[in-house]
Amino acid sequence: MSPLTPARTRQSRRYLMCRPEHFTVSYSINPWMEPAKPTDTALAVRQWQSLYEAYIALGHEIELIDPQPGLPDMVYTANGGFVIDGVAYVPRFRYAERQGEEQHFSRWFRENGFRVVEPEHTNEGEGDFLLAGDVILAGRGFRSADDSHREIARVFDREVVSLTLVDPRFYHLDTALSVLDPVVAPGETPTIAYLPGAFDDASRAELERRFPDAIRVADADGAVFGLNSASDGENVFISPRATGFEAQLRERGYTPQLVDLSELLLGGGGIKCCTLELRGGER
Ligand code: ARG
Repeated sequence: MSPLTPARTRQSRRYLMCRPEHFTVSYSINPWMEPAKPTDTALAVRQWQSLYEAYIALGHEIELIDPQPGLPDMVYTANGGFVIDGVAYVPRFRYAERQGEEQHFSRWFRENGFRVVEPEHTNEGEGDFLLAGDVILAGRGFRSADDSHREIARVFDREVVSLTLVDPRFYHLDTALSVLDPVVAPGETPTIAYLPGAFDDASRAELERRFPDAIRVADADGAVFGLNSASDGENVFISPRATGFEAQLRERGYTPQLVDLSELLLGGGGIKCCTLELRGGER
């Protein structure tokens, strides 16, 4: 590490996860999902367990929601809501295959001391909404409706920056962009990482303007879901296959924590998809 490498600070996080006991690929709603390909549920559970344990080992608090039979994508809890200051804006899924999850997430938030806001518009939670300092970055193009961007701006009274995704492999914002500093001082800009090719020209220009110091990740690392990562401000949980991104993170003073979720990638999800950040709320 060079003397100019910034020191990073770990912030304790609280995450919602769901053990993939019913994981399989029985339908296809993104280009990664091939129902004809066999899946190994026991392996998915073991890999998920390694992520769970990595979070615990680094001092994070994990809440669990019960997996439901017939809802194989429920493991991807990032889509279960978007939570700031104890307010949970719950999802309205684009595809019927996942709509059965909505009531389970709503109930979990209600029973765990969050104020639930039922959405009017199609949105897939933290899959498409990422809090970056004072602003909310919001993905459009594949899943969340444009009207949901206006809706969250009202619900959370924050500026929302809409970003257009153009590559069907990167259909949720969290597959193409990662916020590396979950907590910054008011007015400060967090470091982000993103995959330029996943966005249209206007969105790329917007990202360059707002985040001149961002880590731009190579296509090879994006293609193995390297950006689908979680960060506590110091430790960044990433796929071991994203070796270029791993080196970029080290150069910037972060500590990559490698967790392989190859089996869950068969459903089109990775580390971040399995992790929903819970900000605020009573215990
Ligand atoms: N099979 C799921 C879907 O297509 C994967 C969701 C991944 N989640 C995410 N936050 N990117 O909806």
